[in-house]
Amino acid sequence: MFIGLDLGTSSLKAILIDDDQRVLAEHAVPLTVQRRNDGWSEQDPAAWGAAAIEALRAIRAKNDCRGLKGIGLSGHMHGATLVDAHDAVLRPCLLWNDTRAHTQAAAMDADPRFRAITGNIVFPGFTAPKVAWVRDNEPEIFERIAKVLLPKDYLRLFLTGEHVAEMSDAAGTAWLDTARRDWSDDLLSASGLSRAQMPRLVEGAAVSGRLRDTLATELDLPSVIVAGGGGDNAAAAIGAGVIHDGQAFLSLGTSGVLFAANDGYRPDAATAVHTFCHAVPDRWHQMGVILAASDALEWLARLTGRSAADLTRDLGDLRAPSHTLFLPYLGGERTPHNDAAIRGQFLHLDHGTDAQAATRAVLEGVAFAFCDCRDALAATGTTIQRALALGGGARSDYWLRVLATALGFPLDVPAQGEFGAAMGAARLAMMAATGAGAEIATPPAIARSITPESVLAEAFGAAHARYRAAYAALKGL
Ligand code: XUL
Repeated sequence: MFIGLDLGTSSLKAILIDDDQRVLAEHAVPLTVQRRNDGWSEQDPAAWGAAAIEALRAIRAKNDCRGLKGIGLSGHMHGATLVDAHDAVLRPCLLWNDTRAHTQAAAMDADPRFRAITGNIVFPGFTAPKVAWVRDNEPEIFERIAKVLLPKDYLRLFLTGEHVAEMSDAAGTAWLDTARRDWSDDLLSASGLSRAQMPRLVEGAAVSGRLRDTLATELDLPSVIVAGGGGDNAAAAIGAGVIHDGQAFLSLGTSGVLFAANDGYRPDAATAVHTFCHAVPDRWHQMGVILAASDALEWLARLTGRSAADLTRDLGDLRAPSHTLFLPYLGGERTPHNDAAIRGQFLHLDHGTDAQAATRAVLEGVAFAFCDCRDALAATGTTIQRALALGGGARSDYWLRVLATALGFPLDVPAQGEFGAAMGAARLAMMAATGAGAEIATPPAIARSITPESVLAEAFGAAHARYRAAYAALKGL
């Protein structure tokens, strides 16, 4: 048996699988995000440990876990969790979608070493500029930093007592030499930090430590190994068997991700595509990331006082995009714009724009943002032929039809069960505990494929062009 713990932005999810990878139990504990200022997004790391205990207790209550062999971790990427020499948390964690560090990010990005060594633009949401913001605005905290940990690696510290990171998440800090899979001393010193302040690095499928005895006793679990794990996107890819060139997924989570696995390291920072290590050795991946996918729909749900499920329930047959346009840049954008200051827009509203029309426009706007990611990936030479559809938003068939038609490639919907990051984390635990290779990360059975509706392809293409024009007008280009 293996447990996967996925620290998501809106919940921590635990799953228990048996040795044949059948899901025996799952449990989710909700988490909240604090937005104290525009562009800020924070969480209290203490909430993660408490949520993990609650989830592990719930799993244990439903199952005899004597056969447990390992725990794997996954989590939202790029967060800056700062701890002092006694491992006490110094301030709330600055999350992946916190864009306050845009000035620091631009300054780092202007130093050519960052793009050359990491293969990526230094985005404001990455870890390094956020620590630089702390240096500039909270110097007394910066002085006390003993370790900088990514969110799931703080959870690891809580569970095992070890300071360890793994390659896929570390690649999102802007301090990793992504080709060599090691911290860059040059980039750390450019940030006023040293290797001693960084956790030790392991591969995602390697052992990183053991569950503390005290916790094992408290939770009535064996003191098993904890695997390196992965950043949530790399872990989701392991859960979905997306490991080789030509395999891809599209994820409709809080953020939106178009992810392509790569057999080699293929950076192209200028495109605003992210190029990171995969969670298994000798593999990398590229992704286009939009900051608000399901988050955009949740915003409309709050605005209209209805739930996202309610809004998307009765949208009927797919139709050509209406005149109304939505630009989903509610908290800035990563791919392809790298723009922390940009904000969303609703355009061409009229007396007939009701909640249903607004919902359609939001779903279409997110799809056009994904089209921009598709085009950015294509500019690096990565063409996607088809992709698995993952994440909570993929429960809406209407949205998937919009996406497949806008993107021009089929989306495959997994049959059933759990193929998300928690599954990937459990699989990485299996690899670490048993020595199994990446081949255990098989793709799921496909329930159905949503194919582009060719009669509407031209209308969606034209609407994407109008969306691009609206962006250009917004920026005064
Ligand atoms: C990826 C990214 C998000 C987070 C949140 O670069 O920022 O996908 O990992 O889940």
